[in-house]
Amino acid sequence: MIKVDLSGCASFFDASGPDFSAAAKAHRTLLEKTGEGAEFTGWMCLPQQIKLSELKSILAAANKIRGRSKALVVIGIGGSYLGARAAIELLRPIQRSDSPRVYFAGNGLSGDYLNGIIEQIGDGDFDVNVISKSGTTLEPALSFRVFRELLVKKYGANAKKHIFATTDANRGVLHDLAVQEGWERFVVPDDVGGRYSVLSAVGLLPMAVAGIDVSAVLDCAIDTFKRLERQQPDNPAWQYAAARQHLYTKGYGIELLACYEPSFRFMGEWWKQLYGESEGKNGIGIFPASLEYTADLHSMGQYVQDGPRTLFETVVKFDRPLTEAAVPFLMGDADKLNYLAGRSFDSVCATAREAVKAAHIEGGVPNISVGVGRRDEEGFAELVCFFELACGISAYMSGVNPFNQPGVEAYKKNMFKMLGKPGA
Ligand code: PA5
Repeated sequence: MIKVDLSGCASFFDASGPDFSAAAKAHRTLLEKTGEGAEFTGWMCLPQQIKLSELKSILAAANKIRGRSKALVVIGIGGSYLGARAAIELLRPIQRSDSPRVYFAGNGLSGDYLNGIIEQIGDGDFDVNVISKSGTTLEPALSFRVFRELLVKKYGANAKKHIFATTDANRGVLHDLAVQEGWERFVVPDDVGGRYSVLSAVGLLPMAVAGIDVSAVLDCAIDTFKRLERQQPDNPAWQYAAARQHLYTKGYGIELLACYEPSFRFMGEWWKQLYGESEGKNGIGIFPASLEYTADLHSMGQYVQDGPRTLFETVVKFDRPLTEAAVPFLMGDADKLNYLAGRSFDSVCATAREAVKAAHIEGGVPNISVGVGRRDEEGFAELVCFFELACGISAYMSGVNPFNQPGVEAYKKNMFKMLGKPGA
């Protein structure tokens, strides 16, 4: 189970410390569905629901794709792709040769990027999973047009068998098209917003295609949400939410999420969307940023150690590595590294982590540590449940609705007007 260690921020707290009773209240608001946006809290029981409903067809579709294609193109943006990408990069950073390669398109407007994917796929067999709850988001809709045309060129009338649409159960352009064209459909549930949807078909289908054991993910998620219901100050979600809100009131307005595993990079992207869209509104909110350690210590380390003292860091630590790797002994010690010979990379990394933590605390950066077992299906599920729940609690503690995103509409209005969309 997730462990939160607040010892690295204790010296930055004031005498009253984090407000666990406010965290308790926010947690009850979530569980009892009495807060703003309560109609979007379906993510807390999503794992059970999916097991009872769509899991079988998700696995069947994934097996079909795995059996016939070299590539799956996942088309979506924001909450419609970040979770799947985070999971695949975390758990399958080097995609296996016995699994289709998963490409992500529709998360921007670069024609070069699209052409790059098309070039990589070449004349190999491929499938497309287009994901959009609204069904009208410009970036995925444009990319889908391109890949749909390619499918028709390649497979003719059978193209429709290579399209899987994940969208609203009853409405929207994509829903209507899927019904009309007979594409296999999966659902983004009404009561789940994009950034909380990774444990629905949105995340699970691409994950299953990449060879991730999604049943294990769901089983662990059911268990984790259950355990996180605990109404005690040692609930890790309360600890994290209360600590970050307390630090915010003390002037620490920027949170750096860091991890020493390079494959965690897209977990950071997923987390940024989750916290940024949930909390940054009404003129308040912690700014979420992410760093990859130790790589970024050689670029951003100076700023973290010595820049404005408005940062705190949350470091995710996996307790055990998946494989062993040790520093070899070198006869003659020409590179002067024999003092580390025989030590595992994991233990060298653990020492580096302790050294960095001490230096950053000394330099005025509060440190929250989040410990999780291993970089596997269970570890992923625990992190997702923990961060989602803590986000809801933290946002309610700060007095905002965690489940809307009114701010993202502003640029869309301008863009559609300038692009000449009829009626915009
Ligand atoms: O969290 C959200 O709601 C957003 O990030 C959406 O997921 C994103 O804008 C994509 O929307 P849609 O799935 O409707 O295409």
